[in-house]
Amino acid sequence: MAKARVSVLGLGSMGGALAEGLIAAGHGVTVWNRSPVRTEPFAGRAAIAADAAGAIAASEIVVLCVLDHAGVGEVLGLPGVLPGLAGRTLVRFTGATPGQSRASAVTVEAAGGRYLDGSILTYPETIRSGAGQIVYSGASGAFESHRSLFEAWGEALFVGADPGTCFVLDKAVFVVLYGGMFSFLQAAALADAAGIAPEVYRRVAERQFEELRRIVPWFADLMARGDYSNAAASVRVSAEAYAPAAGLCRELGVDDLLPATLQALFDRALAEGRGENEMAACFEMLRRRRV
Ligand SMILES: NC(=O)c1ccc[n+]([C@@H]2O[C@H](COP(=O)([O-])OP(=O)(O)OC[C@H]3O[C@@H](n4cnc5c(N)ncnc54)[C@H](OP(=O)(O)O)[C@@H]3O)[C@@H](O)[C@H]2O)c1
Repeated sequence: MAKARVSVLGLGSMGGALAEGLIAAGHGVTVWNRSPVRTEPFAGRAAIAADAAGAIAASEIVVLCVLDHAGVGEVLGLPGVLPGLAGRTLVRFTGATPGQSRASAVTVEAAGGRYLDGSILTYPETIRSGAGQIVYSGASGAFESHRSLFEAWGEALFVGADPGTCFVLDKAVFVVLYGGMFSFLQAAALADAAGIAPEVYRRVAERQFEELRRIVPWFADLMARGDYSNAAASVRVSAEAYAPAAGLCRELGVDDLLPATLQALFDRALAEGRGENEMAACFEMLRRRRV
């Protein structure tokens, strides 16, 4: 089957990587960028459009990856852009709130286009090499029509018809990512204060992240079944093991905000009577807003 032609609007770090990934997968690509200098590396490998409307006219599917929502509004407002999207699919990779992505969807659909949002859960280099993961929401028909094209960048997952859904998942993933980063750095500060060699801490920390990888499918299964009764390490046992952490940070002169916050979560779980359950039972506590 012939590969689809794709137009990429916005050639910053991520937009450039999206275009590179498409070229590597054999798609015919047309590029446009507000500042023409960013199109230069694509000379001879992609068609270079003189303006945004010309880029849109070149392809059935249009990728938009500019810095922010205001930039998306500016591009959609350029001459000929909205009329040009009639009968085409626009995929927006610019980060947004769910409300902003719904507003863009309304604008594009009113012009007769199909609209998808994509949230890129990785770095540009991974997208360029086709090993990324992107979650999409919006027009499910458009996702299915272009799924094989999206796979040029790696795994493509559709998460819902409401265009904003992928950006809710994206924030959830940030809790995992930045929670993991801060946890790694916090524990490094404590190990350092105790005079533990950095390479020893690194080995131990790497092993803990491997443990977490193993825990994810196991906990996901318990959460799906809502059955936390058969505890390998109960909340009570885990809380007892964890209890000295915040105090040790204070004793060694290390920041205690994160360890004290985790202590507060253990305290709540115990107060709610979850002590004999597996740690995954804390999902039931966290899914309700604290009153
Ligand atoms: N980089 C990452 O690791 C990463 C990861 C996941 C998601 N993302 C998302 O990808 C989007 C782009 O990020 P990036 O890293 O590619 O940013 P970047 O390297 O700073 O590039 C920004 C791009 O947006 C364009 N732009 C900004 N304002 C514009 C406007 N008003 N009209 C037209 N074009 C405009 C810039 O054009 P000029 O060249 O003319 O300035 C440039 O092409 C962001 O929403 C970001 O959240 C990035």
